[in-house]
Amino acid sequence: VLAFTLIDVAAATGGSLEGEGGARVLSVVTDTRQGCAGVLFVALRGEHSDGHRYAEDALRAGAVGVLVGSEYSGTGPLVRVPDPLTALAALAAAARARLRAKVIAVTGSSGKTTTKDFIAAACGVERRTVASRASYNNEIGVPLTVLSADEDTEVLVVEVGSRGLGHIASLAPVVGPDVAVVTNVGSAHIGMFGSIEVTARAKSELVHALGGGGVAVLNQDDANVLEMAAGTGAAVVTFGRSPAADVRAQNVTLDERACASFSIVAGTEQTDVVLRVPGEHMVINAVAAAAAARAVGITLHSAAAGIGGIESAQWRMQISDKGGRRIINDAYNANPDSTVAALKTLVSMGRGRPTWAVLGHMAELGARSTVEHDLIGRLVVRLGIHRLVTVGADARPIHEAARLEGLQPEEATFVPDADAAIRLLRDSLEADAVVLVKASRAAGLERVAAALGDAE
Ligand SMILES: Nc1ncnc2c1ncn2[C@@H]1O[C@H](COP(=O)(O)OP(=O)(O)OP(=O)(O)O)[C@@H](O)[C@H]1O
Ligand SMILES: [Mg+2]
Repeated sequence: VLAFTLIDVAAATGGSLEGEGGARVLSVVTDTRQGCAGVLFVALRGEHSDGHRYAEDALRAGAVGVLVGSEYSGTGPLVRVPDPLTALAALAAAARARLRAKVIAVTGSSGKTTTKDFIAAACGVERRTVASRASYNNEIGVPLTVLSADEDTEVLVVEVGSRGLGHIASLAPVVGPDVAVVTNVGSAHIGMFGSIEVTARAKSELVHALGGGGVAVLNQDDANVLEMAAGTGAAVVTFGRSPAADVRAQNVTLDERACASFSIVAGTEQTDVVLRVPGEHMVINAVAAAAAARAVGITLHSAAAGIGGIESAQWRMQISDKGGRRIINDAYNANPDSTVAALKTLVSMGRGRPTWAVLGHMAELGARSTVEHDLIGRLVVRLGIHRLVTVGADARPIHEAARLEGLQPEEATFVPDADAAIRLLRDSLEADAVVLVKASRAAGLERVAAALGDAE
């Protein structure tokens, strides 16, 4: 973090200081399990627990102070505010205003975390770079990310999620992007937004947050994203597969693990890159990252070197080869676009081997849920995937659609839960099968992937 004390916290948040406020805060946490020595602990009220219950523990364990709501009855050192979450944003906005770093912010329906990690790697080759942890992208994660940068940080990469209109706009003073990247606009979380148009407007708020001298980095291949170019006074750089893109991928080939090799071309510059993260859809994330890195002055060559070093995050397109079998664990999350991308990756890895898609429910699709699951079932058939295992009642339309589209009863199986899926797979998987496991987090299909791994 930047150098600040509880006195500064009180000033930035309009809160009142109680107790000694001169010590320097070394980091900001909202969870005592992240360590308390030298920290400012922010007591947030969650769905399941209230951070105020842990404030005393935090102080006992070495916190410099706690940021608490007006009802808090404990003693300091503390800063008391009407709402700690609002105060966290105010503190982060004050920190943002002091940062010297260039801030690159990333939003979109899919691929935010991947693109954020690619950008951080691309910039990290030449600059001191700080990026969001994991998928920290909401009204808590974004301020914490900004507060994790310090005076020496040269590039700060921030993942920004959106849960509705106005959400990103409200985070704008915290993020203060110099570069705004929009990966794509798809049907992820469409149950919450209501329509693709509203989704696009919600994501465009990141572009509107750009100040003078800002750069919008937009997907040339996604019409809903490209349209955002018209609504901004900022400079626009586009990325994509299409020849019209400013930063583009050429000559894409996939290896046996479905990892892409290609050239990135930008103006007269060109460089080759080999990805370690499987899936052809990673190509677009890579050129997005190269475009963003270039916008802060990183050479294409350094960007490509950084991007090529990134491996898959846990449960996201993780490949494990057990005996002759391959399990692709993408059970971290699922939406229609990422499921399509994963199914295509499965097929390109198949190469004559038996292919299995083990699919669970895709959450947060609202009224579009049945239609989107149905489309996935049809795609499984159209892609020529050999076996479909649909897990859980909420995912059932995938199964029904695949049957209607022509899969035979022995090719498409519906099972009620993960345990039944595990039993079926243990009994029926061929020795050389390639198996994709994918669903939204709540479906818990990572257990299936783990069980298959353990079976050998
Ligand atoms: N450009 C893309 N198009 C479609 N799917 C993608 C793309 N990039 C990544 N994915 C897939 O989407 C899923 C989520 O990827 P990632 O975690 O990068 O996205 P995210 O936008 O950060 O998601 P979240 O909203 O959960 O934070 C993974 O299954 C990944 O393989
Ligand atoms: Mg994410």
